[in-house]
Amino acid sequence: MASHTLTADIVLRGGLVIDGDGGPARAADVALAGDAIVAVGPGLTAPGAREIDVSGLVVAPGFIDVHTHDDLICITQPDMVAKISQGVTTVITGNCGISAPLLRFSETVDEPFNLLGAREDFAYDTFAAYRRAIEAAAPRVNVAALVGHSTLRVLCLDDIERPASPAEREKMDALLRDALAEGALGLSSGVFYAPAWAADVEELQALAKTVAEAGGVYTAHIRDEREGIIEALKEAFAVAEPSQAPLILSHHKCAGVRNWGRAAETLGLIDQTRQRQPVHLDCYPYTAGSTIIRPDLADGEVEILVNWSEPHPEMAGRTLASIAEAWGLTQAQAAERLMPGGASYFQMAEDDMRAILSHPCCMVGSDGLPHDKRPHPRLWGAFPRVLGHYARDQKLLSLEAAVRKMTSLAADTFGLKDRGRVAPGLKADLTVFDPDTIIDESTYENPTRPASGVALVFVNGALAWRDGAPEGERTGRFLRR
Ligand code: ZN
Ligand code: CU
Repeated sequence: MASHTLTADIVLRGGLVIDGDGGPARAADVALAGDAIVAVGPGLTAPGAREIDVSGLVVAPGFIDVHTHDDLICITQPDMVAKISQGVTTVITGNCGISAPLLRFSETVDEPFNLLGAREDFAYDTFAAYRRAIEAAAPRVNVAALVGHSTLRVLCLDDIERPASPAEREKMDALLRDALAEGALGLSSGVFYAPAWAADVEELQALAKTVAEAGGVYTAHIRDEREGIIEALKEAFAVAEPSQAPLILSHHKCAGVRNWGRAAETLGLIDQTRQRQPVHLDCYPYTAGSTIIRPDLADGEVEILVNWSEPHPEMAGRTLASIAEAWGLTQAQAAERLMPGGASYFQMAEDDMRAILSHPCCMVGSDGLPHDKRPHPRLWGAFPRVLGHYARDQKLLSLEAAVRKMTSLAADTFGLKDRGRVAPGLKADLTVFDPDTIIDESTYENPTRPASGVALVFVNGALAWRDGAPEGERTGRFLRR
């Protein structure tokens, strides 16, 4: 294409563009004007524009972290260093059925909502107030939000130990509609967690229908990721099928030693189901999961690392087995004594995780827990780990395929229409990284070390991260459906 003269503020010169669609990387300049990408091609000419030499580096769409629990941290600590340092430019909050808006706690924060923040952080009585608080905080990354089904249950049910009554269903539906009207992306559910255990398929179907009619999505932390995984997957499919709500299976995994090796079976079932209804999934590139400490998960087979414990903070960083031994208790009894708290569970097989991550419908979601004092390393490392460890070093997938999972696939699945690609007319969320050095640095021992190799990150056209530190003003926005 012949070069013509452009009006632009910034030109990224000489990089290797990976456009997000999965096609091969190509040498091209990228021109930005205001908050948008205005041109992509070789030899762009834009008199007066700031030139940034990115030769030797990849220019990719900013990464979209589709599975986060950043509901409150994006307001209380808006620099979002754990995310922007990985090249993430958008986070989707409210996953696993637990969303923060509308919740209030008078004393301690109930489980599992304590994964999100401290009591005083829960301060938004309407979804609109939450949206305005994000806009006022202007986080360093964009934020889009799901509405949690467990949150709706806690707000609307007299007794969460049973399915919602017709009147309670209507109340939940009204709150959901209100949030959707304010731009929420859809509904998340977590029937794995106590506040939603008692929910039945009919209760969830009704909410999924509302979401589908509004053009939103339905994400599910299924009831059982262990031996009962097939039944649990079928339950999630049954919720979404009648309304054809786009279903996203959260952090898909085959958990528990007895369940290892079953990814081919679960992915086969997902592929089969995709012929009847839309299904996608997300996962994080680790063999340990992380959530609250729960005695029923301490099966004595899976190694468990305690991340935090309110009654026993001194036990953070120790294995549950060693604590149980020191106390002369079973692991389940020790877990009981450590609650409330959080832990990492080494419950997945590497081969299963690799199969899931490589599935063409699988996105990347960190599932990072930003409120944990000693978080699972996925919070600071998930995206560079996929690019550096799994794509470059292990050659599990091409760099282009890995970028696609983090960008266009995520944007298309969640309905973020003007993001996820390096293309003229789209918002200028861009991540410039060194393909030879990008890697996660966070470990279970040192969980908050920032990743290496992310050179520059642009959010809505503005430089937001440069060579290991935040740069400039925070320009993240609340993204409406
Ligand atoms: Zn979850
Ligand atoms: Cu989660």
